Amino acid sequence: MKAAKTTPPTTNKHLIRWVEKMAELCQPERIHWVDGSQQEYDRLCEELVQAGTFTRLNPKLWPGCFSARSAPNDVARVEDRTFICSLSKDTAGPTNNWEDPYVMRRRLKQIFRGSMQGRTMYVLPFSMGPVGSPMSQIGVQLTDSPYVVVNMRIMARIGKPVFAEIDKDIQRVVPCMHSVGAPLAPGQQDVPWPCNDTKYIVHFPETREIWSYGSGYGGNALLGKKCFALRIASNIARDEGWMAEHMLIVGVESPTGEKTYIAAAFPSACGKTNLSMLIPPKGFDGWKVWTVGDDIAWIKPDAEGRLRAINPEAGFFGVAPGTSARTNSNAMATLARNTIFTNVALTPDGGVWWEGMTDQPPAECLDWRGERWTPEIGKASGRTAAHPNGRFTAPASQCPSIDPEWENPEGVPISAIVFGGRRASTLPLVYQAFNWSSGVYIGATMGSETTAAAAGTVGKVRRDPMAMLPFCGYHMGDYFRHWIKMQRNLRSTPRIFHVNWFRKDAEGRFLWPGFADNMRVLKWIVDRVRGRALSLESPIGWTPRFEDMDWTGLDFDRASFDALQQVDRAQWKREVMDHEELFLDLHDHLPPEMIYERELLICRL
Ligand code: GTP
Ligand code: SPV
Ligand code: MN
Repeated sequence: MKAAKTTPPTTNKHLIRWVEKMAELCQPERIHWVDGSQQEYDRLCEELVQAGTFTRLNPKLWPGCFSARSAPNDVARVEDRTFICSLSKDTAGPTNNWEDPYVMRRRLKQIFRGSMQGRTMYVLPFSMGPVGSPMSQIGVQLTDSPYVVVNMRIMARIGKPVFAEIDKDIQRVVPCMHSVGAPLAPGQQDVPWPCNDTKYIVHFPETREIWSYGSGYGGNALLGKKCFALRIASNIARDEGWMAEHMLIVGVESPTGEKTYIAAAFPSACGKTNLSMLIPPKGFDGWKVWTVGDDIAWIKPDAEGRLRAINPEAGFFGVAPGTSARTNSNAMATLARNTIFTNVALTPDGGVWWEGMTDQPPAECLDWRGERWTPEIGKASGRTAAHPNGRFTAPASQCPSIDPEWENPEGVPISAIVFGGRRASTLPLVYQAFNWSSGVYIGATMGSETTAAAAGTVGKVRRDPMAMLPFCGYHMGDYFRHWIKMQRNLRSTPRIFHVNWFRKDAEGRFLWPGFADNMRVLKWIVDRVRGRALSLESPIGWTPRFEDMDWTGLDFDRASFDALQQVDRAQWKREVMDHEELFLDLHDHLPPEMIYERELLICRL
């Protein structure tokens, strides 16, 4: 059967032909070219309400907001189903799943055949980065999920203006195929969250293509995000001499109006969104933190030899649990309207709730599965009301701390790069790398406890270089080489730091209050970058002394700070052994700097 379709709003023959070819393969009932308008968005949301995917929230409490519940087997990224299908296995490296591209293509053709039957195929053009910016990249996602279309409208620039860019014909377009893998037979009743037990998240780095099957959730399905802006973009960036990183970007403004931009890489669910929207604590009068991005940074040397960064996204896909007016009031203000919630709890008054939003849970609600939940039921069953990876999709423009420069097509200048993980022991609150190559070593050997952002075990320390383990689209050893090489094009190199908000005492309590108080660490970083703060040389890098930190408004004594900053040689020897575990796998691609830095670290210990 030929699909019913509207007239393509583009003259690009390649695009039109590709859409026709893919429609022939997937056999959708209709084709819809997405214009990105408000009317279209409203209509799709209404259809999602009719289909039972969305619940419209109480407009008096949550104007323009919807809540969705996913299928219980589709709640997070699936790293073991994520593939980098480069021509050679060696190009993908040992940290990525690989399959022969010819074999994979054949398999994908089979599973996509007829996969959209009974559904609409949306043709969704999107720009990662402001439309027309020299640092932006364009993709077109074909998807049978209207949930994906409305989320993508918040997360990226989509629709008409992007078609206009494509029609300029000089633009390279990354084709992104997506199907939830749930074809409908004639007359078959749909489910609220269609998906498939079989999942494939596939990248072809050489031909710059993405094929995603079986999931409608987050990074599996919003293909502009992790698939394009990190896995494919890391390949483009390596070839073109820039960097695609899993980093937030903030501008730290001092009372004199001096602004210092910092990019920070923390693994999933380790505090990027929170740090990017930080509100300084009492006593930091005149200091302000401006948000440029909360998850992804594209970073490129400018004509002056300085790194400049853009946030390729237009929205935040943030972790809901733990977000509160106390810990992140900027996020709470951002998500107060025009936001899509997924896998949080629904309250009887038509609102949403998640663990940590308020101290007092609601007396009763529907949990993320749609089942009745009370604090008593929660206690007895051990079930949380919201899924730990429950998320909000909110427009960045609504963020009270959004930086006036956030859409600057040239990006913002980066003065410091911060790495960080979730570590109960060993890693101090903050230290500074001796130089660029020791900083690259610190990033390359980062470890972090796994979180609910990906399917699998939670709480186990794994090596997650530069927070890119699940997102680097090629060999990790070559990625380190690329980092090392980047410095050669720079006249001024950002300083590199490592932070850990999550160190615990023997009783398992956090040693550091975190959140707003992380401003103290940011201030030390800014002062180091500006040549104003002192520090001590330790075996692992430069560390602040108690008197180098600003303690205004916080009762924190020297002994507590020493416990936080302690560099325990026995623990560090074990840490270095763990570094080796990853390095053994990467050995034949490792840049020599990583070997030498490791030796030097061992010597100092
Ligand atoms: P992704 O969106 O998955 O990439 O996560 P993210 O890195 O943006 O993490 P996010 O800011 O959403 O924080 C994840 C979890 O860490 C939340 O439960 C936060 O409450 C918690 N968190 C963030 N900052 C801090 C901190 O400074 N201290 C402590 N103890 N917890 C924090
Ligand atoms: C992450 O896991 O780092 C996220 C969420 O930002 S997702 O978009 O699902 O990848
Ligand atoms: Mn992320």
